[in-house]
Amino acid sequence: MKPVQVGILGLGTVGGGTVKLMLQNTQEINNRAGRKVEIVQAAALDNSVLQKLDNCDIKFSTDVFDIINNPQIDIVVELIGGVDLAKKCVLKALQNNKHIVTANKALIATCGDEIFALAQRKGLTVAFEAAVAGGIPIIKAMREGLSANKIKTIAGIINGTTNFILSKMADKNTPFAEVLKEAQQKGYAEADPTFDIEGIDAAHKLCIMGSIAFGIPLQFDKVYTEGIDRITSQDVHFALQLGYKIKHLAIAKRTKKGVQMAVHPTLIPKDKLIANVDDVMNAVLIDADALGTSMYYGAGAGELPTASAVVADIIDVSRTLTTDPKNRVPHLALEPDKIQNTNILNMSDITSSYYLNIKVLDKPGVVAKITAILAEKEISIEAVIQQDTKNISSEYVPLIILTRKVQEKYMNEALLKITDLDVVFEYNKIRMEQL
Ligand code: HSE
Repeated sequence: MKPVQVGILGLGTVGGGTVKLMLQNTQEINNRAGRKVEIVQAAALDNSVLQKLDNCDIKFSTDVFDIINNPQIDIVVELIGGVDLAKKCVLKALQNNKHIVTANKALIATCGDEIFALAQRKGLTVAFEAAVAGGIPIIKAMREGLSANKIKTIAGIINGTTNFILSKMADKNTPFAEVLKEAQQKGYAEADPTFDIEGIDAAHKLCIMGSIAFGIPLQFDKVYTEGIDRITSQDVHFALQLGYKIKHLAIAKRTKKGVQMAVHPTLIPKDKLIANVDDVMNAVLIDADALGTSMYYGAGAGELPTASAVVADIIDVSRTLTTDPKNRVPHLALEPDKIQNTNILNMSDITSSYYLNIKVLDKPGVVAKITAILAEKEISIEAVIQQDTKNISSEYVPLIILTRKVQEKYMNEALLKITDLDVVFEYNKIRMEQL
């Protein structure tokens, strides 16, 4: 059989890793693909990655269209990142009858419906395992392994950079900026790290998983997104004192009122398995009706872990080249005509318990004023800590309250009233999940 010819766009962390892994495990890859699979051409801004490799005969170009328009190429691997150029490349490559492998979560989350529709019309595959949770084969697990189930809940730590930062804040009190720098040096962070810190990267990934889990179109703009920038070491340590860890969690839930899709810092009981997923590691917890709860754990970023998912897709696509396009696993698990829109909940409609860190004046009656407002909104209190003021230089002291479950609308109304009190300076609200 003719070897499968692969062209790769982008030689950054993941692109470089993909080339290295293809060279490192050539025999295993060919055996698993059932034929020879070779990267024949690569395009990037510079050639330093290929120049460092021994025995590398990959043709290099600075023009991505040299690959996209090359009639010999069967699979285009898009590892440029970003949306504009990547979208142009993928659409043109599909028009030129190339299958696509991509690690680009922003592209799939925001333009996936258009890209999949074109691929479907052309009988081509767009594989995107590396777009979600790095090396963990979560797309395959959800789309194929769990295809007999109705998925009820997904809860994931799906951004390695923010998990790395929160873990270091908990362990060593290392300042935020220093940990971020380390994550960038290790190749975990996005080119623009605000995508990690503000939760946009995790929201892209959650949007893709939510669509596969619930059979809904990709709707990135409806994913609620909150970053980790408001989390302080003080919150991390109060949470620990109360038996919780703070994780940057992506949650998708099917509820009676609609689907909840949100990314935000979350307190999780510290003895739960997912609360102990630290450093750059990712984990996705899935609650499904037949299987029950299962968890998928592994490296969520980095050169070879992400390349592992890219190369697995290259092998998968190589195998599907000779199969009937109509019988391939659909991109989003369901045939396109079975994908149905459903109500995505506003955050004011969700129900959660909350951790509140309210900065208050250390005066008699303050706690009573705050608890009276909570009681008025029928919000029950689970625990309260008021820190000893000895070590605090500010006139305001943190009052920590854990609440029972309440609709977010009422929590926000109570917090508006609480901030109006002249004894309150500011507050931080973090949602909690028992999982
Ligand atoms: N910046 C991402 C992360 C890379 O930190 O998880 C993998 O998508």
